[in-house]
Amino acid sequence: MKVTLKVWRQKSASDKGKIETYQLAEVSEHMSFLEMMDVLNEQLITEGKIPVAFDHDCREGICGSCSMHINGEPHGPDRGVTTCQLHMRMFKDGDTIYIEPFRAKGFPVIKDLVVDRSAFDRIQHAGGFISVPTSGNTQDANSIPIPKADADKAFDAATCIGCGACVAACKNASAMLFVSAKVSQFSLLPQGKIEAKRRVLQMVEQMDKEGFGNCSNTGACEAECPKGISLENIARMNREYLKASASSSE
Ligand code: SF4
Ligand code: FES
Repeated sequence: MKVTLKVWRQKSASDKGKIETYQLAEVSEHMSFLEMMDVLNEQLITEGKIPVAFDHDCREGICGSCSMHINGEPHGPDRGVTTCQLHMRMFKDGDTIYIEPFRAKGFPVIKDLVVDRSAFDRIQHAGGFISVPTSGNTQDANSIPIPKADADKAFDAATCIGCGACVAACKNASAMLFVSAKVSQFSLLPQGKIEAKRRVLQMVEQMDKEGFGNCSNTGACEAECPKGISLENIARMNREYLKASASSSE
């Protein structure tokens, strides 16, 4: 199939950037979106032009680096998938596809479609360590009973891959879905309760410092999250934050 690509090109962080138009004549519907981008870059290199910079690593939906805004949606029109798992069969012959970087103050553009998401690393670092010892003999898994429902919720929260689609989807560029997943994956488990208060206070403080906005309550983050992270995590983080704030001011 033939597609017209309208791609955001930006030489550097200080460049203004603009949309450039490219035509691809032979795209297979079985290609992944990133394979289609590889074809575009081969074409650009053959023409002596600079290829489009974009992030990718695992190409199987686990690293969270392939963050693109495709036709106005983070990770494109399919549900529950990352850009690397999106296939060209989601588009039709003759389609025009707009491809832009994730837009948020906390995610400055480095080049073309690559944004700096190190703010997420700093938020996670702010959460600090877990003091439960992990060295020595491995503890029997059954020695700390954890209700199945809590274990499942903690595991679901831990599937967040830090892609940033929640931020890109939110009109306030809020990072609350991401941060609440990282808070919840520990706070739901006994091992994570020891530092729970310090963790939530420090992570929320860092989130604010990085320039992310408040929750817009529209649920756009949950709708666009490739891992189905639930808004329930934001409610849990808010409760944890209130509890921690109240006890730290006692
Ligand atoms: S909550 Fe979902 S959209 Fe946000 S960073 Fe995690 S996986 Fe990506
Ligand atoms: S390249 Fe790793 S999630 Fe897409």
